[in-house]
Amino acid sequence: MKVNTLNDFINRIPKAELHVHIEGTFEPELMFALAKRNDITLKYASVEELRKAYRFNNLQEFLDIYYEGANVLIQEQDFYDLTIAYLEKCRDENVVHTEMFFDPQTHTHRGIALETVISGIQNALDDAKKNWGITSCLIPNFLRHLSEDDAIKTFNEALEFRELFAGFGLDSSELGHPPAKFERLFRMVNDEGFRAVAHAGEEGPAQNVWDALQLLKVIRIDHGVRSVEDEVLLKELVQKQIPLTVCPLSNLKLKVVQKMEDLPLKTLLENNILATINSDDPAYFGGYINDNYKAVAEALDLGEKEMITLAENSFKASFLSQQEKEKWLKTIEKIYTDFY
Ligand code: HPA
Ligand code: ZN
Repeated sequence: MKVNTLNDFINRIPKAELHVHIEGTFEPELMFALAKRNDITLKYASVEELRKAYRFNNLQEFLDIYYEGANVLIQEQDFYDLTIAYLEKCRDENVVHTEMFFDPQTHTHRGIALETVISGIQNALDDAKKNWGITSCLIPNFLRHLSEDDAIKTFNEALEFRELFAGFGLDSSELGHPPAKFERLFRMVNDEGFRAVAHAGEEGPAQNVWDALQLLKVIRIDHGVRSVEDEVLLKELVQKQIPLTVCPLSNLKLKVVQKMEDLPLKTLLENNILATINSDDPAYFGGYINDNYKAVAEALDLGEKEMITLAENSFKASFLSQQEKEKWLKTIEKIYTDFY
């Protein structure tokens, strides 16, 4: 089948996105528009100059630019505009459900009220549900380069909005900030009845995935591609049905893999791991979800069947109800049978 047709096929399959940071969907054009509206001067003279800075050798180089970009977000309307722009992409790319990360501390540390951030994001999520039927949930992530005490303070503040959150996560610099640093925090998260997820095994070793599972009691791992370095861990992920939210273009841009062909997605699928495809920070990594599906299809020589499996996995691994999951799995099955 010709690539064009495979691209059409990918576009047509309903998908869930389980790993996207809303601050990472901040396109340069919108960043410049909001900087102007808020009377902020960016370090870069133009959209082109800013885009040129999007060359990263590792996670930290990306994070430095990503946190700087977030400084432009001040008013509730800014968070709304940012979120609705991402949701328009979802509508266009047939993402019917999204589980969205945001970084509360990135904003509260600049004096922005948590309520401002959450209201702007949630109003956009509500509008997307009303206008386009897109379902969603929010997952605040703690910044692992900050202290556990700071994260605990943030968690306690976030409890005021608890009904809006599907769970809590952990992101930012993995190296030097292992899961063990946040054991007390995640005990609180679990004790309060929230789901726990964490970035692990992106730049850090497979041991971080073990520690996220055992010390933080997470039920889904973000990235986790380095799990393939540990066969016993792979068996554990299957046995405990722990999904991985893989982000191909992110892994390439941050040099977690040197080329897309090195992404161990086939190994994960062959080992029956519930691997999913996600965009992470699409404005910075050169593509939204369909570009990520297309990139792996091309580099790893995957076809319609694998695209279907990955889309099915995205619903199976989601926090949707069993009934909602079955609805989407049936829709996907119909697309597949109509195709053949
Ligand atoms: N890893 C860690 N922290 C992040 C990422 C990521 O890929 N994206 C945004 N914050
Ligand atoms: Zn991420």
